[in-house]
Amino acid sequence: MRPRVYLTRRLPQAAVDIVTAACETTFWDDEALPVPRETLLRAVAEVDGILTLLTDRVDVELLDAAPRLKVVANMAVGYDNVDLPALTARGVLLTNTPDVLTETTADLVWALILAASRRVVEGHRLIAAGGWSTWSPMFMVGQDVHGATLGIVGAGRIGAAVARRAVGFGMPILYHNRHPSPALEAQIRATPGAAIRYVPNLDDLLTESDVVVVMVPLTPETRGMFGAREFALMKPTSVFVNASRGPVIREAELIDALQRGRPWAAGLDVFEREPIGADHPLLTLPNVVLTPHIGSATVATRTRMAVVAATNLVAALTGQPVPNPVNDGGRLRVERRAPPV
Ligand code: GLV
Ligand code: GLV
Repeated sequence: MRPRVYLTRRLPQAAVDIVTAACETTFWDDEALPVPRETLLRAVAEVDGILTLLTDRVDVELLDAAPRLKVVANMAVGYDNVDLPALTARGVLLTNTPDVLTETTADLVWALILAASRRVVEGHRLIAAGGWSTWSPMFMVGQDVHGATLGIVGAGRIGAAVARRAVGFGMPILYHNRHPSPALEAQIRATPGAAIRYVPNLDDLLTESDVVVVMVPLTPETRGMFGAREFALMKPTSVFVNASRGPVIREAELIDALQRGRPWAAGLDVFEREPIGADHPLLTLPNVVLTPHIGSATVATRTRMAVVAATNLVAALTGQPVPNPVNDGGRLRVERRAPPV
């Protein structure tokens, strides 16, 4: 019998084709809005696998509603929407979509760095409001990006891609991870004149950097890791960028810090509770640039992510090697592909 699966959103056709070729498929037929919780809980009663988005909470309640479930294919690199210990305890496999979104997300981080440093959105708003009267020496002056020191907190795949782009801007790079990454350092130092240094102490990175980029996953350890104390360590000229997960920073404390001018500006793609509305206090500040969680949002990359998630789902349910397993998936015998170097 063909495996049964549920897709929690209408996905690009290339991904749907992969799933329907191998599985009895039902799905939530809306591209824009998440499946209502009650509908989801009913829909998973008989399924062997689900393809989820980061707007779907995969928790014990959902697992209880899906007794046959063997695999959850999350269409994201992050999986903080999933109770991983609960899945693992029941032998349910989790897969994610790393690698395909790395370069695209790094591009968006750079959009935020440049826009926040050079007041791009503020300038646009000023023109739109009829506020541009003349050229003057210190009108709309911002911070230089080229030559500034870039501090990356969480230099995984995306952080490394952000670092590679910084070489072109002549920026010395600092990074803070649990462990140094000789491979990243070698990659950066392959360009003559490029500099990168591992900083074991986060406080040191915050005091020394001109631009701070956060790229850590959301875990119990990283939740709330940036607050008043950390912002106070940053330079009064510093730019802070978060494109990882909102709850990594204490948003109310960031708003307060931005009002005090330290950091000097911020670029944010993620928020404590998404979506945020037009009444959000961050929008009262001139020195922020906000985007609606679109790090990986290009046509090509979102299509690839859907295809990768679909491929993981089908592979797991048809006994083929699973490209991106996150845990062991005891209910399936998962053959691991060699990790990327
Ligand atoms: C998006 O935020 C992702 O984790 O892929
Ligand atoms: C995040 O998980 C990354 O790929 O850097």
